[in-house]
Amino acid sequence: MATEWVKYCYSWLLLWLCIRASESRNTRHSLDDDLLQPYAQGHGPTHSHRHVRDCQAVVYGNTTHESWPSHSQSRQPVAESNMFVTDVEKGTRWVLGHMTVVHNPLKTVSVVEPGGPGGCNIKRRVSVVDTAKAAGCLYAQNGGFFNTQSGECMGNVVSSGRLVQNSGGVQNAQFGIRRDGTLVFGYLSQEDVLDQSNPFVQLVSGVIWLLRNGEIYINESLQAECSETQETGSLKYFVDVVSARTAVGHDKAGRLILFQIDGQTNKRGMNLWQVAEFLKNNGVINAINLDGGGSSTYVVNGSLASYPSDHW
Ligand SMILES: *[C@@H]1O[C@H](CO)[C@@H](O)[C@H](O)[C@H]1NC(C)=O
Ligand SMILES: *[C@@H]1O[C@H](CO)[C@@H](O)[C@H](O)[C@H]1NC(C)=O
Ligand SMILES: *[C@@H]1O[C@H](CO)[C@@H](O)[C@H](O)[C@H]1NC(C)=O
Repeated sequence: MATEWVKYCYSWLLLWLCIRASESRNTRHSLDDDLLQPYAQGHGPTHSHRHVRDCQAVVYGNTTHESWPSHSQSRQPVAESNMFVTDVEKGTRWVLGHMTVVHNPLKTVSVVEPGGPGGCNIKRRVSVVDTAKAAGCLYAQNGGFFNTQSGECMGNVVSSGRLVQNSGGVQNAQFGIRRDGTLVFGYLSQEDVLDQSNPFVQLVSGVIWLLRNGEIYINESLQAECSETQETGSLKYFVDVVSARTAVGHDKAGRLILFQIDGQTNKRGMNLWQVAEFLKNNGVINAINLDGGGSSTYVVNGSLASYPSDHW
């Protein structure tokens, strides 16, 4: 896989990095014409956390998520972001994307509701650009899934120490940061989400745990995250189709890795196997997939720096 890195300027000084908690387009501008939905209805499987625990390999015991100490040295710049061009399928297709490496995620990364605090509650739909501007994000990406009809945020959301909503134990892949800086990737029981001994200060729900301990974990995710109310087929399509994608992971040093690629569902971009492989080849250890398709957006200092497939 040939990868060409183009370095961005290093001298940016702003201090906030944000991962969007939810989708964020202004309905007046976006036609919502590249929807990539993992589930026919609702968000995630109806089965229990026990089901997830029972169907994983014995090597994991009863642990359904991975924890990793985050990198905690402050340095400047707080993050380095690279644009890359990579070929998928042996040079027949090229993909443009961004990878952002964050040094001290506990201090610099936040999950932000659409339009800022309270945005999930009032089902606000605003663009990543507007949210990132308002929150003063140096880099911002879209994050969690949302209901495309109602604008409702889906899954668990903790934003800078505030529990915005808990999903009631829906078993989707999660990314969170605990109060002591521990990075958490994987499946969480409702008790895990609400735990107060070392609570989550940031938490967002994705769909499909891409990498677990450096290994591709997609087949296991299909088993864990497929809803009983639908055929594996549509979740499998969601995994197998090429599209624009957004993901979050961490490397060995505990630095957070934000990943975004452009694409258009069924035409351009990557499927989740290719995303997982790419991340693995770039030293990522655990990673989950976030909202993709027309939602996939990357913003630098308040300016759109990717090519979203929804028409604005
Ligand atoms: C970000 O944008 C603002 C204006 O919108 C500008 O004043 C500031 O210098 C920019 N910061 C960086 C780090 O590029
Ligand atoms: C998980 O396994 C450990 C050790 O095997 C045990 O101490 C713990 O109680 C188990 N937890 C649950 C929730 O079963
Ligand atoms: C995933 O499952 C498919 C079909 O069951 C199998 O062909 C494939 O080798 C599996 N891939 C991995 C990485 O386990």
